[in-house]
Amino acid sequence: MNICNREGGRCAEMALVCLTDFEEYAKEHLSKATWDYYAAGADECCTRDDNLLAYKRIRLRPRVLRDVSVSDTRTTVQGTEIGFPVGIAPTAFHCLAWHEGEVATARATEALNTCYITSTYSTCSVEEIVAAAPGGYRWFQLYVYRDRKLSEQIVQRVEALGYKALVLTVDVPYTGKRRNDIRNQFKLPPHLKVKNFDGVFQQETGAPEDYGIPANTLDPSISWKDVYWLQSITRLPIIIKGILTKEDAELAVEHGVQGIIVSNHGGRQLDGGPATIDALSEIVDTVQGRIEIYLDGGIRTGSDVLKALALGAKCVFIGRPAVWGLAYKGEEGVREVLQILNDEFRLSMALSGCRNVAEINRNLIQFSRL
Ligand code: FNR
Repeated sequence: MNICNREGGRCAEMALVCLTDFEEYAKEHLSKATWDYYAAGADECCTRDDNLLAYKRIRLRPRVLRDVSVSDTRTTVQGTEIGFPVGIAPTAFHCLAWHEGEVATARATEALNTCYITSTYSTCSVEEIVAAAPGGYRWFQLYVYRDRKLSEQIVQRVEALGYKALVLTVDVPYTGKRRNDIRNQFKLPPHLKVKNFDGVFQQETGAPEDYGIPANTLDPSISWKDVYWLQSITRLPIIIKGILTKEDAELAVEHGVQGIIVSNHGGRQLDGGPATIDALSEIVDTVQGRIEIYLDGGIRTGSDVLKALALGAKCVFIGRPAVWGLAYKGEEGVREVLQILNDEFRLSMALSGCRNVAEINRNLIQFSRL
């Protein structure tokens, strides 16, 4: 975990000890357009920033003298054991951060025994990802296209490849307005491709695009009945990503899905929506354990993970920090990011008197301050 800073001809050793260090490294080393794309939030970025700030408002109620000499961070998601309750959220275009792209991410998550949600907009194909890390535990993130056949084909491909769940992202009927991407006229450089759809999105040069994908490919008319359609074409569990209210959580349960990811897309879609950690409790209260609830957005420390679990999340996912790890050192960088979060989480657990994840509950949260 040492980087060599050659500024001024000197080689200073500098340890990256927390996720913010990886963020700074990525900001320094990525091109401005790429950094801006990863960092972007919608409009004024209020929701993006609140995702982080909301954790700082929450205080813990630690218990002491509970023999924390042995601690166990393992948990299960959808019945499968993972090493600790932090997975990788789907983020697009990993080859922008590191030449091996999603293949490196897949290897890192396999090594750390956790869940990697592959984005539809990967710059490696799902076949390449699976071949690189055949033992990895993976879910596939899906958008619904106007051309339903396209969605059907990718569902069949990932099912055959051994993906264990489909994550249906529901907060992108249209892409949020990310100001820097517009200013930078950001698009995928010509040497990179959305590999899962190589050759499928044929279009004329100069036609309108959204991030290198022809505009208007996603279907904004998608509605709850499409969950039934998806169930009719797959045997995989379906997890809905992008739920922020108890009303939609109840509908998700009624429509027979197997999980919810409480998410605001890292604040990249609707600006002005709640921080995900603030939205979590009403959803947990409504769902009452009928399906698993996960969360992403703003997780940067082990105590953030502890707080999310205390408020009822079964597992959390990181988006941008994984990309910072990639920008640092590819597979090794993502492993370090995950390892740091695991170590910090284990320490926070012990310092608050929890020996395993089953002991984490709402009593850990100081509600009087909320
Ligand atoms: C995303 N996110 C995302 N979500 C999704 O369902 N499909 C996708 O292709 C992408 N792509 C994507 C690209 C980039 C650069 C970012 C930052 C985010 C949203 C992602 O899954 C997740 O919700 C957030 O990133 C979580 O917030 P943090 O951890 O980045 O704060």
